[in-house]
Amino acid sequence: MLPGGGKATLAAMLVLGIETSCDETAAAVVTDVAPYIRSNIVFSQTVEHAPYGGIVPEIAARAHLAHLDPMIEAAMAEARVGFGDLSAVAATGGPGLIGGVIVGVMEAKAIAFARRLPFIAVNHLEGHALSPRLVKDIPFPYLLLLVSGGHCQFLIVEGVGRYRRLGTTIDDAAGEAFDKGAKLLGLDYPGGPAIERAAAAGDAKRFLLPRPMLGRDGCDFSFSGLKTALRLAVERQAPDGVLAAQDQADLAAGLQAAIVDSLADRTRHAIAIFRNRHPDGETLVVAGGVAANTALRTRLTNLAQNACLDFVAPPVSLCTDNGAMIGWAGLERMKLGLVDGLDFAPRPRWPLDPGAAPMRGAGVKA
Ligand code: KG4
Ligand code: ZN
Repeated sequence: MLPGGGKATLAAMLVLGIETSCDETAAAVVTDVAPYIRSNIVFSQTVEHAPYGGIVPEIAARAHLAHLDPMIEAAMAEARVGFGDLSAVAATGGPGLIGGVIVGVMEAKAIAFARRLPFIAVNHLEGHALSPRLVKDIPFPYLLLLVSGGHCQFLIVEGVGRYRRLGTTIDDAAGEAFDKGAKLLGLDYPGGPAIERAAAAGDAKRFLLPRPMLGRDGCDFSFSGLKTALRLAVERQAPDGVLAAQDQADLAAGLQAAIVDSLADRTRHAIAIFRNRHPDGETLVVAGGVAANTALRTRLTNLAQNACLDFVAPPVSLCTDNGAMIGWAGLERMKLGLVDGLDFAPRPRWPLDPGAAPMRGAGVKA
């Protein structure tokens, strides 16, 4: 209270968030007063990459260049703010496809320079890690299952900028398992939503696929053996290369069940480790594109309930790549004075826990 009984009104912070690390060109305006998201606009480059069955980095970079200006304009208009109203500009500084990251970082730096605003380079994984705090004021530390197209990790989120990695994949990420599985089944990219749709009409028990790492110590992941098993099943079922619709649905259901079973088993182990280190920890959180999967969300809800943990999953629009999570991580960093210089160099690799032992094996992600 101010002398005289008046209430001090501090201007809300407004941060522009820019995301260009993969195949989504996204911009958003977030604030520190609920509702936190003033706008959140995403352009998915699916059509640009569809003819190639996966993301082509050079095409992604050029598409970001073509689409980013209108995305920012639209995000600012929807939030009804001008550049002069902003408190800071945040952009994904890595990890990701470097051409796209450079596009977003250069744009953010240019706005920051022209408007004399702080610039914040956000680790894309930190964007995912803090995104559930857009939905709920989750106390630190919490256990995070981060499952996306490029990453599959358990992290203890001890605070903004403070992460401990408990486990990671020794080969593919969970999203990759969905994407590569979809390709084998003749389904569209991105594979996760396509598998989920096909699986709805399928029998998960007809084709029994392996559950990678089931019961193993620790909480690392592996999905490449599952991909091989799926390929063999497809070849057996359709020697001529054309799968019947029901076979496709049953195999999709089988693949989804195998991935979810494996993720659930690893989560049980991760919860035990988390409990041991932080007996007071209260929350299990899932983030990243694969967190959009309903079967996974249901399994994690049950696991958390059995372990007496709160479970928080952001809405689907905040699970897949978006600008709001980058703006929000930027806002949380700015509150702690963690801003970056305009000499920040984009980082194709950028582990959240630099102290974690490097994982050895084919196709290991940072
Ligand atoms: O976080 P994200 O948008 O981009 C990365 O940072 O990788 O995640 C994209 C990944 C893709 O592999 C996509 O297939 C997967 O998330 N995904 C899903 C679903 N929606 C997206 N996986 C399973 N079920 C879904 N409904
Ligand atoms: Zn992502």
